[in-house]
Amino acid sequence: SAKKRVFSGIQPTGEIHLGNYLGAVKNWVDSQDEYENIFFIANSHSITMPHSPKELESSTYKLAAMLLACGIDTQKSALFVQSAIDYHPALAWILDCNISMGDMGRMTQFKDKSAKSSAQKASVGLFNYPALMAADILLYEVDFVPVGQDQKQHLELTRNVAQKFNRDYGECFKIPNPLIQKVGAKIMGLDNPQIKMSKSQKGENHAIFLLDSPEVITRKIKKATTDSAREIVFDENRLGLYNLLCMYEIFSEQSREVIEAEFAGKGYGELKSRLGDLLVESLRPIREKYDEIMREKGYIKQVLESSADKVRPIAKATYERAKNLIGL
Ligand code: ADP
Ligand code: TRP
Repeated sequence: SAKKRVFSGIQPTGEIHLGNYLGAVKNWVDSQDEYENIFFIANSHSITMPHSPKELESSTYKLAAMLLACGIDTQKSALFVQSAIDYHPALAWILDCNISMGDMGRMTQFKDKSAKSSAQKASVGLFNYPALMAADILLYEVDFVPVGQDQKQHLELTRNVAQKFNRDYGECFKIPNPLIQKVGAKIMGLDNPQIKMSKSQKGENHAIFLLDSPEVITRKIKKATTDSAREIVFDENRLGLYNLLCMYEIFSEQSREVIEAEFAGKGYGELKSRLGDLLVESLRPIREKYDEIMREKGYIKQVLESSADKVRPIAKATYERAKNLIGL
């Protein structure tokens, strides 16, 4: 088709929060007609760190159910689990042999993640992870990869190894481009609006998870940090208020002028109560859909498998081309 192909993945670690939803998943869902999307659950990446096998398996299913509940439509987009397609680690090995220790050693995410224990104890897989990510992308001949700040360096490495391979062994890989998203929502922590909402932040009141009950959502919004000024206006310097208003803007689909007029002469109490209600009502269908899907494990399995079957031939063709060119 003439549509550009977009490829994106997310690791099955932790619960999806409002930041993940508004910053990533909702964009995927909304772009399903504009692009040919391939989405995948990066479970092979999640064994680079210490983990529980049982939990990994169940969080893979839960993430799939959540993505479907959020509106990923597998009639339009592929949604598969990485470990279902063996060409990923197979191509990663070939790429590993074409990336220098020096280039791999410059990846800052390894330094960050291994610093938490020690670089000596970190797995070789954690060090090599960018080669697996490069394989993920290159297998599917994609036009675009939406990347956040933390993954930019990995996409750059992907482009470099692909170009080098094409030069050294002959034309094999399509060179992917970063997809710079329209200034998407960056959602800040409710308890501390100086930092982005993240699943790695502890704190009762930091994040709203898509599966939070109405009572919990209402309570978290009530407790959200704001300031002592009065006027309810979009002021980027008033971080806490701005964060709440951005959520209101997205879910109410109203302009900033209309929203400011709605709250003219009103206070935080009113804003928090209306935002709480709006979030509860907006997330309710996702939570209900999720519960419905989770009751049908067989359905999730079948959806994931049929998507994998659909895209596997693309991966196979790329892998065999690479294998051939390098003399295996
Ligand atoms: P987390 O920080 O919760 O671990 P990840 O780094 O796994 O989130 O990111 C998963 C996706 O969600 C990425 O595409 C990332 O850009 C997006 N994302 C994460 N946190 C936010 C946020 N607070 N606001 C907007 N987008 C976010
Ligand atoms: N490394 C990404 C993360 O931690 C997940 C990921 C793996 C990915 N392979 C990818 C994202 C390929 C985009 C394309 O968030």
